[in-house]
Amino acid sequence: MVAAVRPRAADVIHRDRRVDARNLKIEVRPLAGALGARILGVDLSRPIGDSTFTDIYRAFLEYLVIFFPGQRALSPEQHTAFAARFGEVDREPFTYPFKTPTVPGQTQILLNVKEATDRTINVGGFWHADVTYRERPHKAGIIYAKDVPPFGGDTMFANQYLACDTLSDAMKRMLGGLKAVHSSRMVYGNEWARYASVSRTRAPLLEERSFSKSMYAQAEQASVSEFDHPVIRVHPDTGRSCLYVNRGFVERFAGMTPEESLPLLEFLWDHASRPEFTCRYTWSHNDVGVWDNRCTLHYALNDYSGERREMHRVSVHEPSPPAASRAIPGRDAD
Ligand code: SIN
Repeated sequence: MVAAVRPRAADVIHRDRRVDARNLKIEVRPLAGALGARILGVDLSRPIGDSTFTDIYRAFLEYLVIFFPGQRALSPEQHTAFAARFGEVDREPFTYPFKTPTVPGQTQILLNVKEATDRTINVGGFWHADVTYRERPHKAGIIYAKDVPPFGGDTMFANQYLACDTLSDAMKRMLGGLKAVHSSRMVYGNEWARYASVSRTRAPLLEERSFSKSMYAQAEQASVSEFDHPVIRVHPDTGRSCLYVNRGFVERFAGMTPEESLPLLEFLWDHASRPEFTCRYTWSHNDVGVWDNRCTLHYALNDYSGERREMHRVSVHEPSPPAASRAIPGRDAD
């Protein structure tokens, strides 16, 4: 059931004085200081009018990740139709570098499932943005919570505008001239297996803490994709600068060795996910979330050992490759 709510001034997009709360068709409830908002008053199982979608899109740009609690069950077609409002739907199965399962007959829907008996990794259990090893990574991920555990299985998100804005001008100047090599090999992303299936009563055994034990290692492996992107990119909709490196896929700075790159990358990876830059969402059955993959990182927690979790994700392409920011150093233009 979708709550029939009227917008309340205190809950709407308060940081953007250009948004007139009284005219919004939706209610927007901020989730944390850095990013994230719940959107109420929308039924995603029905077609969404253009003016309502305009409000949703503004909230997406303002809050970077938005959640739609209390939805009805969505069919693959309804899920895909909503995702298509954000851009061109990626209809190929993703490679990570394993070929990910998709919902039968729906190659555009990534089937992200961890069974109750599986004590190994879950997909996305490390800080990353999706498929950044492609020339045109995803613009947005539109995820639907099909089956949620009774506890745990939250997803965390981190605001990469803030990660960029809080660097010193000298650091921004240096990073502004660099590109990073993003690769589907996931050489550092692999370390997330260390945290495989943690629970209150039992830490994972050594043999469970291995990517090679997971169902994804048994899946068909794909050839490696690799692409260089600016370390500080511009967001094409807002014109703001964002830090654009992620621990999952970045291997090194372009033109440098891994040994030369790693000390600075380690700093940037830790900085990018400072607790103050994050929000955390606890999923309920049928919730939908939409993240801006250009200016956020996300991390799916693997702390629901013995429980089942099933998420369906549709993603949309960025229309063009990420471009370097021209607003370095100094403040972004309003
Ligand atoms: C992902 O798409 O990276 C995982 C998100 C999730 O399952 O919460």
